[in-house]
Amino acid sequence: MAGFHRLSRRGFLLGACAAAVGAPAAYGQGHAMRRIAPNRASDSFNPDVELELICKCDVKSILTGRPTRVWCYIGNLIKGPQNALTELPDTYLGPLLRFAAGQKVRIRLRNELPEATITHWHGLHVPMLMDGHPTTAIDPGETYVYEFEIRNRAGMYFYHPHTHEKTATQVYRGLAGAIIVEDEEERALGLPSGEFEIPLVIQDRSFDGDNQLAYGGDMHTSMFGFYGDRVLVNGRCNFAFDVASRPYRLRILNGSNARIYKLCWDDRTPLTVIGVDGGLLEQPETRPYVMLAPAERVDLLVDFGGRRQGSQMTMLSGEFYGLIPPMAQRMMGGDLAMGEEFPLFTAKVTRASSDTWKPPEKLSTIRRLRREQIANLDDPIPIAITMAGMAMLLNGRPYGHDDIQPRERIPVDTAQLIEIFSARGDAGMGHMGMMGGRMMRGGMGMGGMGMGGGMMGMMSMAHPIHLHGQQFEIIERSFDGDENAYDSIRHGFIDSGLKDTVLVAPGERLRIVKPFSDFKGRFMYHCHNLEHEDAGMMREFSVE
Ligand code: C2O
Ligand code: CU
Ligand code: CU
Repeated sequence: MAGFHRLSRRGFLLGACAAAVGAPAAYGQGHAMRRIAPNRASDSFNPDVELELICKCDVKSILTGRPTRVWCYIGNLIKGPQNALTELPDTYLGPLLRFAAGQKVRIRLRNELPEATITHWHGLHVPMLMDGHPTTAIDPGETYVYEFEIRNRAGMYFYHPHTHEKTATQVYRGLAGAIIVEDEEERALGLPSGEFEIPLVIQDRSFDGDNQLAYGGDMHTSMFGFYGDRVLVNGRCNFAFDVASRPYRLRILNGSNARIYKLCWDDRTPLTVIGVDGGLLEQPETRPYVMLAPAERVDLLVDFGGRRQGSQMTMLSGEFYGLIPPMAQRMMGGDLAMGEEFPLFTAKVTRASSDTWKPPEKLSTIRRLRREQIANLDDPIPIAITMAGMAMLLNGRPYGHDDIQPRERIPVDTAQLIEIFSARGDAGMGHMGMMGGRMMRGGMGMGGMGMGGGMMGMMSMAHPIHLHGQQFEIIERSFDGDENAYDSIRHGFIDSGLKDTVLVAPGERLRIVKPFSDFKGRFMYHCHNLEHEDAGMMREFSVE
């Protein structure tokens, strides 16, 4: 059978462009998705930008020697400014899309893959039918037309498939790309731009002896996620770029399926963070390192000014603990165990420049929600990270379209307080269904099994929780667990900006406030460890 091939050590090989077999959905729900007919272009929508994205099989040179079979997005600009679509050189990654706030965008997604697919614009605030909902997936040969207005702030966003139970494998084969949104507020700052603004998409992959992508689609992959043994940046190994001795803006997206990075410079130069998922911070923040979980973005200002020609700086992923169970850490990722130090990319200073630019003290204004705007201050909506058997779930239930629970119904145009936490106790949680966050606190009535004991202790790992729709504010992050391990990550969370994905470490409890404005319909929330997502660690809010 073409498609995935089982390998002795590596798990599966990703094969040619033939009928593909998905990773075994060990905990998949297996139910057929109800399908909605592909959306067509509407005559009344007059786009400022129109483009075509074709999902297709291709071959790319990634390693020396034989090229690698990949799946990728091929873009064509039909209408709009030239910079709306930029091909990155030598990569399987999709083109960089650049939109401006307020623009009307039409995207024609054409499926030339051997299986169904649909694309999601991660972080963009769009109606349900434009959001890449799994029920809108299109079959090979079909086209889905997206039409939406850019309502987001300036920031870096992410497009990738969101196909039912196949998100992980489709992204892994190469379907992913970055979106940059610009707006007036940001333009007025005069941040480094053009060649001084560098998008960096970090992913990990494994290859077989024949240079083909290998994917460990086994039970451990479903449980812990996929960890490759090579780092690729913008689709390339050992990624390096030349810089002048002046300020740069590095816009980093973690496009990995499961791997979490701890960004830090090799010479321990602190990082100047100017933005996160939902755009600029109000003021720059200086950190020794930044944790970047799958789908999170960070916007860094790096001043190479004063560095001599011939010098270089390497971004590492630094050492950390406690985000994946030790047994999984040893088992997954081969030579690149998560939490061990390894290089990500290198900037080489090759030219002198006298250009300087210092970020102003105030970068932007974030419109924050006031207490009286929050509908449920005393009764947060829970997102409990739970387990049933070996599967990780949210609120004790696997994904099921039309399985909306009472707490998942949200009146449109309200803002909600949401509490995200690991439910303590183990498999029993699976049967408890939805319950208030307060009742689960401390594993009440569950034999009091803490993080150190029971299945939950053994299995406890971090989950990047993502909510579709508008960005949220993180208003509280508290921790009760292994302080030693936590010390290796705690300074790397940037909670001051607007976010759409947040890493929740074992023992953490987060409170976020999220608006649900403008659009009714089903909006997913899920773990962005894509193997967890595909295994059912996903739910929906019904905005009504
Ligand atoms: Cu980036 Cu629901 O996904
Ligand atoms: Cu999303
Ligand atoms: Cu997860």
